[in-house]
Amino acid sequence: MPDFDQVARAIAGIPFMSPAQGRLVYDHVRTTKARDVLELGTAHGVGAAYMAAAGANVTTVDFAGASYNPSPEEVVAKAGVAHQVAIVREYSSYTWWLKELVEARSDEHGNVTPAYDFVYLDGAKNWTIDGLAVILIEKLLRPGGWLLMDDLEWTYAQDPGREATDGIVHRDLSEPERTQPHLRAVFDLIVAQHPSFTELRREDEWWGWARKNPGAPRTYSVTTSQPLPVLVTNAARRLARKARRRVAFLK
Ligand SMILES: C[S@@+](CC[C@H](N)C(=O)[O-])C[C@H]1O[C@@H](n2cnc3c(N)ncnc32)[C@H](O)[C@@H]1O
Repeated sequence: MPDFDQVARAIAGIPFMSPAQGRLVYDHVRTTKARDVLELGTAHGVGAAYMAAAGANVTTVDFAGASYNPSPEEVVAKAGVAHQVAIVREYSSYTWWLKELVEARSDEHGNVTPAYDFVYLDGAKNWTIDGLAVILIEKLLRPGGWLLMDDLEWTYAQDPGREATDGIVHRDLSEPERTQPHLRAVFDLIVAQHPSFTELRREDEWWGWARKNPGAPRTYSVTTSQPLPVLVTNAARRLARKARRRVAFLK
């Protein structure tokens, strides 16, 4: 299996996950010994490559017809982890894929057999889509498993045109829906208040960690773990991503 540095070198420069963020998810998989990982939002497959390099079997889900150059198939092959990554592009949204999986793993009494040790949610950033996604994710997480959400503070107002390019918002957004961070609301009002998620942590304002550990006392902390240069790099990456989307929208 390639180590972190080998993977980082092999996929250098490919969006959307920086090596610093790759290190974070890689270390998480290693320290928790996560065996089965689900990623919602594949793009080029960079996150999937880092998590597979840490030893996990990764299933990563994007839209049917999502098209990236380089493709996630090329990226995980480049990283030397193709045999550990299943790439799914079947439906208009991962919420339908989650519905299918929950259905398939439910018995006649409504018990769901969980499938994952770690779920990385990095897709729509939309209240309606990801609010549903986290409810389905909880059913599929093994006890002790972790959910990680990226982009907690992202708003539509920071990324004009996003709702049109995504094709996922079917009506005009009101001012509060444009200016308030959807994922922060998903994290605070759905995940952090869910009886199963009892260990909650916001890291560097952009990451939301939640551990499924029902019955444990609820704790919610806010931490900054990364050195200043990493925070600056991440902020620059977000600005670049925003600019790319704007250019794509104007074309
Ligand atoms: C920021 S990118 C993911 C980056 C990737 N996780 C990584 O680490 O390299 C977000 C991805 O989510 C996908 N996405 C957004 N909403 C989605 C949905 N409802 N269903 C499936 N994929 C979705 C987009 O097509 C895009 O590829």
